Amino acid sequence: SRPEPCTVVIFGATGDLTHRKLVPALYNLQVEGALPAGVKMIGFARREKSDEEFRQGLEKLNKKVSRSGHDEAIWAEFAQNVHYHQSEFLDLDGYRRLSETLDAIDRERGGHGSRLFYIASSPSFFDDILENLKQAGLNQCNCGEGCWARVIVEKPFGTDLPTAQHLNRVVNRTFEEKDTYRIDHYLGKETAQNIMVLRFANAIFEPLWNNRSIDHIQITCSENLGMEGGRGGYYDKAGALRDMVQNHLLQLLSLVAMEPPTDLSADGVRDEKVKVLRSLRQWDTPELVEQNVVRAQYVAGHVDGENVVGYREEDRVDPESMTESYVALKILVDTWRWSGVPFYVRMGKQLPKKATEISIHFKEPPTVLFNALSGGVPGGNVLVIRIQPDEGISLRMVSKIPGSSLRMEPVKMDFHYSTSFGKGSPEAYERLLLDSMAGDATLFARRDEVEEAWKFIDHIERAWHEVKRPLKMSEYVAGTWGPKDADDLLARDGRKWRRL
Ligand code: BG6
Repeated sequence: SRPEPCTVVIFGATGDLTHRKLVPALYNLQVEGALPAGVKMIGFARREKSDEEFRQGLEKLNKKVSRSGHDEAIWAEFAQNVHYHQSEFLDLDGYRRLSETLDAIDRERGGHGSRLFYIASSPSFFDDILENLKQAGLNQCNCGEGCWARVIVEKPFGTDLPTAQHLNRVVNRTFEEKDTYRIDHYLGKETAQNIMVLRFANAIFEPLWNNRSIDHIQITCSENLGMEGGRGGYYDKAGALRDMVQNHLLQLLSLVAMEPPTDLSADGVRDEKVKVLRSLRQWDTPELVEQNVVRAQYVAGHVDGENVVGYREEDRVDPESMTESYVALKILVDTWRWSGVPFYVRMGKQLPKKATEISIHFKEPPTVLFNALSGGVPGGNVLVIRIQPDEGISLRMVSKIPGSSLRMEPVKMDFHYSTSFGKGSPEAYERLLLDSMAGDATLFARRDEVEEAWKFIDHIERAWHEVKRPLKMSEYVAGTWGPKDADDLLARDGRKWRRL
């Protein structure tokens, strides 16, 4: 059902996320006619700005990044509903003024007072923003007409388990869990949503989706960027494991590994995902971390034909940094279904290209028929789920090469979203904003999921930061596929990373 009109308040409205992702997502929803009529947006930030200046800045970026182009007339209509609210995040009075503005908007609308607070500021302000929303009485609806107040919290959701637990306590003191939306934009990607459909709306895969038929699973996220746009400061404190594995990649892993949910409700799905996270074998000693996790930093090289500097030479990165720009790890999910099936996960900055994919590597067939005489079977079946770009799914099979002799070659059955559906996928933020307005939290992380994921990550971080026994930091040349140690991690198990 189409959500009711509401007012979206974005904290940190002058930031990059608002300009590059959130506003273009709202604009695209407007273009598609999917934005509920009467939705207003208020940008909350510290800098002095008029509504007009704020709108102009947003428009400038929308022209550059909007996936549906930029239509002056639609923009003009959209921009009328965009306002700016200047306030310090710590100034309670600013929230009281916000409350008055929201009430005035509601009166114009005729009493509908639903509000969506999107916290996209620097994480150091998350607590204060939440507390002040509560102090100003904005954390719930007071109009008596069944309206709602919800909060979306951007990443990073904590930097380890204790900070995530603290933030969860603050959030839940302010908003009820059912009104809390912890965003993980990977869950809004069309292809991530399709994982459940692929598994549970087709009868042919699920009988094979277990340790009897699957040899191992790989999840790769490669990026061809480094620390552009002044990101080094944030990144050097986070690293690849916290920045992408704790959230995005463990979420993808949960979708691939979970049991069929009892229904498609938010809790039905999240109950199953959290069971996967609870079943992760913990790498809780330095020896286990050393055996199962590889970390690395890029040194100077070439990416897309350009010279790039090494990680430690990047702007705002400590020249002696021990933060990883690449991580590869073996993950074991200790459940009946996955016993003995490793999940190999890798993520790196400054790799040769931008691509995220999940590949399911099936066991090889028995060799009784096609033995060495016929050259053997050239590899097993691989089902590849391409999360981005060129979204789609392909299945690698073995086929006979036409001719009089029996020779075989792998071939591919390939589905591309672009050709099958003839249109690009919506941006993740479009779907997620709309879902939060409609009150559907299925594609948002629940409190226990975030905490379980941190538990797993914290053991590794702890081992890495153990001063008495420093673990190895490997190197890779920017523009290559990562360090040799990551290849060795799989080679020790007789396996190889799939070439993307
Ligand atoms: C963000 C990370 O959450 O996801 C970035 O902080 C990363 O470091 C980005 O580049 C990747 O998102 P996408 O949608 O471009 O794959």
